[in-house]
Amino acid sequence: MSITKDQVLFALSNVIDPDLHKDIVTLNMVDDIVIDNKNVSFTVNLTTPACPMKDQIQRACENAIHHLVDKTATVHATMSSKVTATQNVGVTNPNELLKDVKNIIAVASGKGGVGKSTVAVNLAVSLAKAGAKVGLVDTDVYGPSIPTMFDINQKPNITTQKKLVPLEKYGVKLLSMGFLVDENEAVVWRGPMASSAVRQFLTEVLWGELDYLVMDMPPGTGDIQLTIVQTVPLTGAVIVSTPQTVALDDAKKGIAMFKKVNVPVLGVVENMAYFTPPDMPDKKYYIFGQDGAKNLAEQWAVPFIGEVPLEQTIREGGDEGKPVSIDKPDSLSAQAFDEIAQRVAQQISIRNADAPPTEKVEILFKP
Ligand SMILES: Nc1ncnc2c1ncn2[C@@H]1O[C@H](COP(=O)(O)OP(=O)(O)OP(=O)(O)O)[C@@H](O)[C@H]1O
Ligand SMILES: [Mg+2]
Repeated sequence: MSITKDQVLFALSNVIDPDLHKDIVTLNMVDDIVIDNKNVSFTVNLTTPACPMKDQIQRACENAIHHLVDKTATVHATMSSKVTATQNVGVTNPNELLKDVKNIIAVASGKGGVGKSTVAVNLAVSLAKAGAKVGLVDTDVYGPSIPTMFDINQKPNITTQKKLVPLEKYGVKLLSMGFLVDENEAVVWRGPMASSAVRQFLTEVLWGELDYLVMDMPPGTGDIQLTIVQTVPLTGAVIVSTPQTVALDDAKKGIAMFKKVNVPVLGVVENMAYFTPPDMPDKKYYIFGQDGAKNLAEQWAVPFIGEVPLEQTIREGGDEGKPVSIDKPDSLSAQAFDEIAQRVAQQISIRNADAPPTEKVEILFKP
């Protein structure tokens, strides 16, 4: 007797998405069921192409058919994805130009120089490598990093409607204040002028359809950061810190700021977590202290996303415009960034399943 579609759906309704705690049929993830006698094929649309559970869910689907329908069936489960959105894409977003951007992630810290731009760049590249549509925007008026970190410095095109068209490299759409503003000029801008430039810059870009827009934030928790959370509906923030006390103290302020304005903190990344000399691969030196950011995440009850080692290749990749995630994909640091991208995507999927869409923050407060 041939296998029926109902049998397949029944079996797959026993496969639970470990993050969303519901079965994949209820979650509407199963599509394109084709049955030809004992050959069963279907597609599972995960909530992100960077899903760390992809292989596990695929095996669970195959096992479910074998155990609950027919152990001699040939099962072919294609794993695909439809990224879920924080905003009601294309519906209620008053900002016409961001309406097709599903999720906006701010990469922030309190302290400068802890690796926000490095994490933002590699996070964007890793998400794009996994198959997502990704944009990256650098909102640092005073010290933009993307031009150097992508080795790209050209003026973006402007449409007849005066909208900016992002540049593109390594599969990521890019825009930096650095493409538009002369750094030496910006240095003398006062806060309100910088804030107004950032606001204009964030709302006048033709991003098109994006699964994730990664925002590299300038250091601190001041006016510019508040302008950003007031201008775009953020999905959440990723806080970067090194493990030493001075950085952690500032990271706390960052977490507090986002919590205060109700932007979810997707998690904490510990950068420069340890150093392994290339000629002593079994050693780990905790130059800036051990587990500081991990403990911080625990204290503030936010997820710990992962750690990135202190590595010469990361610094070189940054300076040469070749992010390690794409240039040295087999290196330890590239693997660390890929895992970080998966965990950030995972937290976004969980957030989108649980929480209502993020609104722009309307209230103005002074930290
Ligand atoms: N894990 C790492 N290993 C080696 N070098 C690193 C690492 N992370 C960052 N760096 C280097 O440290 C410097 C500062 O990093 P980055 O510019 O990413 O920090 P930032 O937090 O964005 O700084 P700012 O606050 O000025 O925006 C860069 O030269 C970068 O290449
Ligand atoms: Mg930076």
